[in-house]
Amino acid sequence: MTDNKDTEKHEVETTGHVWDDDLREYNNPLPNWWLWTFYATIIFAVVYWILYPAWPVGDDYTKGVKTVTVTDEEGNELYSGHWNTRARLIDEMQNSASAQKQREYLESVSQASYEEILSDPDKMAFARSMGKVMFADNCAGCHGSGGQGVMPYFPNLVDDAWLWGGSVEKIEQTLLNGRQGNMPGFAQIQGQQAQDLAAYVLSLSGHEVDAGAAQRGKQAYNVCMGCHGADGTGNTAMGAANLTDSIWTYAQIPDAANLEEKKAMIKDVIQNGIQREMPAFGNRLSKEEIKMLTAYVHELGGGQ
Ligand code: HEC
Ligand code: HEC
Repeated sequence: MTDNKDTEKHEVETTGHVWDDDLREYNNPLPNWWLWTFYATIIFAVVYWILYPAWPVGDDYTKGVKTVTVTDEEGNELYSGHWNTRARLIDEMQNSASAQKQREYLESVSQASYEEILSDPDKMAFARSMGKVMFADNCAGCHGSGGQGVMPYFPNLVDDAWLWGGSVEKIEQTLLNGRQGNMPGFAQIQGQQAQDLAAYVLSLSGHEVDAGAAQRGKQAYNVCMGCHGADGTGNTAMGAANLTDSIWTYAQIPDAANLEEKKAMIKDVIQNGIQREMPAFGNRLSKEEIKMLTAYVHELGGGQ
């Protein structure tokens, strides 16, 4: 529509102003539907400002007149006051379909026995996902994010060797009440006797050691038997390590370069003992949380 002919054909209204003899200004009013939509958005905005939080005012903001009350399923008030996105979040976390589903699962898991949880893939999947989060929050700081532990401070939870037992009942006890790993030091065992005893201890886990030394060491092992057992398999009632498996929870035997270094490590344990403490969580976590963590840790260790 650039030339005059075209203009005439369409008979577009002009504003009546004329410049330079023939330069006119068209008058194209906005279509009504557009205008009304525009006015509607203005009205909507004003209503919105009145109802909801909207304008910053100094350090504060206009709160709006709309109020909400969020209650949990028992009718306890969780939030009451002006509408805001935090209230909406509280509401969603409390009443959304997924929150309700999570509660149902929690309910069913908390009522189920360990046997039922471990044998029901659905319940186990739920316990595993909750347990994983709780483990990251409460346990990973010591035991590592995957439960692999930190030698010699925090035991590995993913092997299936347990100081205190790997059944769900034992693991639950460990979490509820904590554990004191306590081996007294035997500073009086020195010199050749310590060498021989270390050799004997290593022979228990299949190390090739001097037979004479092991034989002599066996005598000295008398003082160890009360806790580690005559055969060296340990005692989960007092958290005494099994010395016959090749899994070490404290002595860093796998890092040793040779037999002498291994003996030195065992001697160090014999002479200095071990003091480690697993803190109790019974007062920090709910019964349901302990239950799901137990199922999770039990599975980490391959179950027992
Ligand atoms: C402050 C560090 C620390 C934290 C946090 C911690 N633990 Fe422990 N945990 C230990 C120590 C140390 C031991 C070893 C105790 C011993 O020597 O007998 C241990 C032992 C255990 C055992 C027994 C292992 C066995 O072989 O019998 C389990 C199971 C366990 N922890 C699970 C957990 C879980 C699950 C959490 C989180 C809820 C957790 N721990 C948090 C330090 C910690
Ligand atoms: C009063 C009980 C007790 C007596 C006695 C005892 N131990 Fe222990 N021993 C323990 C406990 C408990 C642990 C595990 C400590 C921990 O991990 O927190 C342990 C751990 C060990 C370990 C480390 C094992 C590993 O997996 O790293 C060795 C080695 C060991 N004992 C050797 C001996 C020898 C040798 C004697 C005899 C001189 C002896 N112990 C006497 C309770 C005892």
